[in-house]
Amino acid sequence: MSKSGTDMRHHKKPIISPLRYPGGKASLYTRLRAIVRANDLTSGTYIEPYAGGAGAALGLLVTGQVRRIVINDLDPAIYAFWKAVVSEPLAISRRIEKVELSVKEWARQKDVYLNAPRDDYLNLGFATFFLNRTNRSGVLNGGPIGGMDQTGKYKIDARFNRDALAERLRLIALHAKRISVTNLDGMTVIKRYSKRDNTFIYADPPYFEKAGSLYLNSFDQSHHSSLAACLNSVSDAKWLLTYDNVSRVADLYADRRREIFSLNYSAHRVTKANEVMVFSDSLTVV
Ligand SMILES: C[S@@+](CC[C@H](N)C(=O)[O-])C[C@H]1O[C@@H](n2cnc3c(N)ncnc32)[C@H](O)[C@@H]1O
Repeated sequence: MSKSGTDMRHHKKPIISPLRYPGGKASLYTRLRAIVRANDLTSGTYIEPYAGGAGAALGLLVTGQVRRIVINDLDPAIYAFWKAVVSEPLAISRRIEKVELSVKEWARQKDVYLNAPRDDYLNLGFATFFLNRTNRSGVLNGGPIGGMDQTGKYKIDARFNRDALAERLRLIALHAKRISVTNLDGMTVIKRYSKRDNTFIYADPPYFEKAGSLYLNSFDQSHHSSLAACLNSVSDAKWLLTYDNVSRVADLYADRRREIFSLNYSAHRVTKANEVMVFSDSLTVV
């Protein structure tokens, strides 16, 4: 199995998500798995209201740590991708195997990404995926790896390993019946699932300072406050939140347990970032 492929050796951090996500949380897999087990949630539903690449969710699902996952994202392009993966994985796989990797095709996919009807989820979803794999740092509104003239050190196909990506698609397709994909505001999802038993919500909303242009940022200061009001009001549910470690988080979640942690973050360069986890009161933290 190729190194960049679906690497599950030692069952440590399975790389299943086909999307590259700046700040992606697939690396939290081991911690989340421990928390799921400690809270007796292995037969339950794991929910990501701000899913993005959904790296941790997919890792937990395919290794059998949770029974079902919910992938929610408000960005219609990200939603279209996940919807296409779950409902038409073969069509996406076929396109992955055949699509031309050139600047001309990049321009065509960019046009689809910008102009396709939002409910044309196969075309919009594939265009989103194509740009995510061929743009610098996976940033959807960025330029292609290697530049428009392809004179850079790395070329447009540098992150498009067809075999490894098609394999990830096959693996997800096997578990598709246990994946729900929605396109709602994250708070709607939190309210919906926090009332149900046997659920675990992992919220990774757009950050205070890092969010910038990396992905859809529907959040302003008032959204951060509303999210805090929403989560604090259901602290008897089982949830975990991650944010950038800014003082607002300590203010908004003053009554909750918090823990600072580091994540390797590589949008433009590799740096150590300080992030913070916030835990609901009823969650057993390990
Ligand atoms: C920090 S990223 C999540 C990264 C993800 N946990 C991962 O590991 O790849 C935040 C995501 O939230 C989405 N988003 C932004 N505002 C939202 C909202 N109001 N409701 C739901 N999703 C939202 C963005 O499209 C983005 O994909």
